[in-house]
Amino acid sequence: MEKLRVGIVFGGRSVEHEVSVASATSILGALDPNRYDTTLIAISQQGRWHLGAPGMLPASVVEGEEVTLPAIPGNGQLVSRETGEPAAQLDVVIPIVHGTGGEDGTLQGFLELAGVPYVGAGVLGSAIQMDKDVAKQLLQAAGIPVVPWVTVRAHQLAADADACVAHAMKEVGLPAFVKPANAGSSVGIGKVTSESEFPAALAHAARYDTKILVERAVDAREIEIAILGNDAPEASVPGEIVPKADWYDYESKYVDEQTELVVPADLPEALAQQLREVAVDAFCVLEGAGLARVDFFVDRESSDFYLNEVNSLPGFTEVSMYPRMWRASGLSFTALLDRLVELAIERAQASQRLERTYRTG
Ligand SMILES: Nc1ncnc2c1ncn2[C@@H]1O[C@H](COP(=O)(O)OP(=O)(O)O)[C@@H](O)[C@H]1O
Ligand SMILES: [Mg+2]
Repeated sequence: MEKLRVGIVFGGRSVEHEVSVASATSILGALDPNRYDTTLIAISQQGRWHLGAPGMLPASVVEGEEVTLPAIPGNGQLVSRETGEPAAQLDVVIPIVHGTGGEDGTLQGFLELAGVPYVGAGVLGSAIQMDKDVAKQLLQAAGIPVVPWVTVRAHQLAADADACVAHAMKEVGLPAFVKPANAGSSVGIGKVTSESEFPAALAHAARYDTKILVERAVDAREIEIAILGNDAPEASVPGEIVPKADWYDYESKYVDEQTELVVPADLPEALAQQLREVAVDAFCVLEGAGLARVDFFVDRESSDFYLNEVNSLPGFTEVSMYPRMWRASGLSFTALLDRLVELAIERAQASQRLERTYRTG
């Protein structure tokens, strides 16, 4: 059997660049070399694409040869930026770039134009899962519970910050979370416990996006479920995040080793089952494909749950929740990658079967 040529595209122009390097390192280590020829492609903080050479570790690929991917459908050929000569050939891409420019549909649109099959959600699904405001509106319309919120625009903040604070106080109240609509890894997020903290929290979030959410803070357990599939998505067992800090901030995600990841989460069976069903529904509502990690808040007192967010490209290191939840559900890291590559190709084939021209009569 011919080996499939897989490109791992990672890095990117986002605050989650380093997280992506870690994900790429784990994926590279787990892809079966008997099945795949793997090429590493690092996107630098400047947005340039660099090609890995044999033996190069992901962290140093940004120093590799600069390449481009021309938008020639079905070609999948990376070319050297310097010489214009072919540099690598790809059959499928694993775009493990978190955050803006990777998880938000832009990279997916680029890969669509280049006609290369890729793992994960398409342009629309990626974009709506990335935008916390649009995602919540769609989930709410589908009857899936979300935490009450209001949206504040950067221009409104610049024009009248006091009015924005008054609006947030009236509609949401305290305590509240303030977050950029498009971000990740808790970057730009702040918890506000008094009215006087609002202006600084809003200004901080506005550094990362021009659209900001103010959300009621819930005292909740953080439960996550991994989804895998295209048309018939499946849900993993739930996992739980137990940060030592007051909430799951950047430090507790990547620095503080005290954060506990409990898989499977200790939940009543009926609730676990309900969350798995809602997670699959949310995946479909938000145009998911391939994979997603669906994050819930479960109120500590009432056990009411809210869907917090759906992540189209969750952290993908060996120890990340997404692969851990699948391992606990009986699927190894390597088998998970095999399945994701298969799903990417299935989806590209379904789209290739669509008519591109139309003649009447
Ligand atoms: N409404 C909320 N109530 C309680 N905790 C929250 C709320 N919103 C966010 N958090 C805390 O902040 C963390 C990050 O927020 P989240 O919306 O998931 O953003 P990100 O996309 O950066 O992960 C959550 O995991 C949780 O610990
Ligand atoms: Mg989150």
